[in-house]
Amino acid sequence: MMNNLLDVENLWVKFPNRNGVFDAVRGVSFTLGRERLGIVGESGSGKSMTGRAILRLIRKPGIVEADHIKLDGVDLLGKTEKEMRAVRGQRISMVMQDPKFSLNPVITIGDQIIEAYRLHNSASKADAYRKSVEMLEAVSINDPERVMRAYPHEMSGGMGQRIMIAMMLIPNPEILIADEPTSALDVSVQRQVLDIMDKLVKERGMGLIFISHDLNLVADFCDRVLIMYAGRVVEVCDAKNLHEAKHPYTRGLLNSLPRLDEPSKRLEVLQRDPEWSKAPSVSGRV
Ligand SMILES: Nc1ncnc2c1ncn2[C@@H]1O[C@H](COP(=O)(O)OP(=O)(O)O)[C@@H](O)[C@H]1O
Ligand SMILES: [Mg+2]
Repeated sequence: MMNNLLDVENLWVKFPNRNGVFDAVRGVSFTLGRERLGIVGESGSGKSMTGRAILRLIRKPGIVEADHIKLDGVDLLGKTEKEMRAVRGQRISMVMQDPKFSLNPVITIGDQIIEAYRLHNSASKADAYRKSVEMLEAVSINDPERVMRAYPHEMSGGMGQRIMIAMMLIPNPEILIADEPTSALDVSVQRQVLDIMDKLVKERGMGLIFISHDLNLVADFCDRVLIMYAGRVVEVCDAKNLHEAKHPYTRGLLNSLPRLDEPSKRLEVLQRDPEWSKAPSVSGRV
């Protein structure tokens, strides 16, 4: 029996508007163990909203509903906003799709990492500085001392993303939700960031939710994959069997990206069938 860190049952994210309600996430269920769980789908399929809903970070007027969202058996839906802040700060970290909003623009990166470190560990300023430099080195930043003195706007997207990952690791979270963490990075840096997350899952027993639109990347990197279409999970696969996926949408996603092993193959246009969004969401619970 798998040791589940997270158990999500019948999750909905709803946005009321003038014409009624738009359902961005529609009845999604899954569990997360000490594994790398991928969530894949086209832009707009509800991946980010699923990740944010777990932390109750959906902005008004959006609404999160679920039968439960349990972290180690305790329903997060029963927690106050103050208790949720503690969950976000310590137990579940999220690397957002756009890291610019997550760092304070008027404080140096070093001061922000040191502050985050001292919030979670009793350490002198000098020790916190040393640890912060180590964290930056752990995410493959070559000149950590310069980065410590810099302000967020001086960083490229890829650097910002790695700094965010370094900060997210400070509290030693049980779960990391990484929303398209490598999409702004070039291929070699992408590999480094994936290796860092891989190490955390293996060495710290962390659970990882890895959100991406790139099904081939997820097939390589994750253990298990949920495939989302129009707010629902249409298929759940072990990553190693992904190339044998049955759902036509999954097959379309696999074929719509260039493959290194078959470069001559013409890219297929993703076909969509209205029936796909009518079928109930497939459960990813184990
Ligand atoms: N504040 C909002 N108000 C209304 N609709 C929203 C809002 N935020 C996101 N959506 C819609 O929810 C759907 C899912 O969005 P999202 O989870 O961000 O998709 P993605 O899979 O690309 O991460 C999209 O159709 C998006 O337009
Ligand atoms: Mg998104």
